[in-house]
Amino acid sequence: MTDALSRTDEPRAPSIVWITNPDNYDPRRHLLLQKEGSDRVNLFERNGLPVRVVHSGDLVPAWSGGAPRLYLDEEDLLDGGHAFLLSDWTWDAGIGRHVQAITRTIRAAGRVLLNDGIRDAESLGSDKLAMCHTAAALGIPVPPTVAVPFGRYARRVLTVVDRELGPGPYVVKPRAMAMGFGVLKTEGPEQLTAAVDLLAPAALGAVVQPFQENDGDVRVYVHRGKAVAVMLRRPKAGSYLANVSEGGSGASFEGDDRVRTLSERLAAGVDADYLCVDWLLTRGGPVFNEWMTVSAAYEDLPEPDRSRVAAALVTYVRDRIAAGS
Ligand SMILES: Nc1ncnc2c1ncn2[C@@H]1O[C@H](COP(=O)(O)OP(=O)(O)O)[C@@H](O)[C@H]1O
Ligand SMILES: [Mg+2]
Repeated sequence: MTDALSRTDEPRAPSIVWITNPDNYDPRRHLLLQKEGSDRVNLFERNGLPVRVVHSGDLVPAWSGGAPRLYLDEEDLLDGGHAFLLSDWTWDAGIGRHVQAITRTIRAAGRVLLNDGIRDAESLGSDKLAMCHTAAALGIPVPPTVAVPFGRYARRVLTVVDRELGPGPYVVKPRAMAMGFGVLKTEGPEQLTAAVDLLAPAALGAVVQPFQENDGDVRVYVHRGKAVAVMLRRPKAGSYLANVSEGGSGASFEGDDRVRTLSERLAAGVDADYLCVDWLLTRGGPVFNEWMTVSAAYEDLPEPDRSRVAAALVTYVRDRIAAGS
């Protein structure tokens, strides 16, 4: 799901405040992506959940006057009974630091942070290495995943990759991004070295995995402990990215029941009432790729799955707001 939305200004009581990062996108692409985000806003609003879109750069988090504050001009957004939805992926280190300040301020005020379906002190929700640690501890098959150190130490990853992952091919990708951003297939150590050299100065934070030959990517939507829909995504011919935003296509999936069982196990293990789990279908069986919570796209599912997932999402959001946490 994109977070490229136009800011909406009217204060409405109490709303879902959706904090977005339009600075992630080329302004031209931003215009195209707005429609997708608007669909999600319309879904919530049709179901009696008003949404107000705010850009992260317009917010000033603070502790002041005896309370946490999240200022939008003169208004304190923590002062209005709102729930929050915060798009936290970004390629920009400065935005990342700012989003962390916003997250901590919302948490300090005890407000509902809807995308925070995974409760953790740091942003486990979008950290691919942290997801692998957690999933593996629950007995889920995960690929070997190696994090790239920063700056001048970055090449130290190469000896570990050579020793643990073999000669390639590899995938090198940002540790916490979305929509296929920066996901690079490298054929061997030489290309991997160049990729590491190019990404280290950007301070993006990356992981390296073996490139896993696969028959596509499946996303399992788990609500209240049960898999409610499964989407199969396949890269377009000659490509390796299954992201629909990068040209992949979505369809219903009738195969292998293991992905449902494993996804239900994972959702229970991380105590998430709504979790979308992505798997790569390899010859050796499904291998965990990543999870998402409310930000996962479901709009490409065929009916009736699409409506079932939309209903689950709305129910989950309502439950969180009613629980006040
Ligand atoms: N280790 C891997 N082996 C093979 N394909 C991969 C691997 N990692 C990612 N991919 C492909 O790239 C796509 C995007 O990677 P992913 O980790 O899901 O990043 P994002 O969060 O940007 O969606 C996946 O849907 C899959 O098609
Ligand atoms: Mg993905």
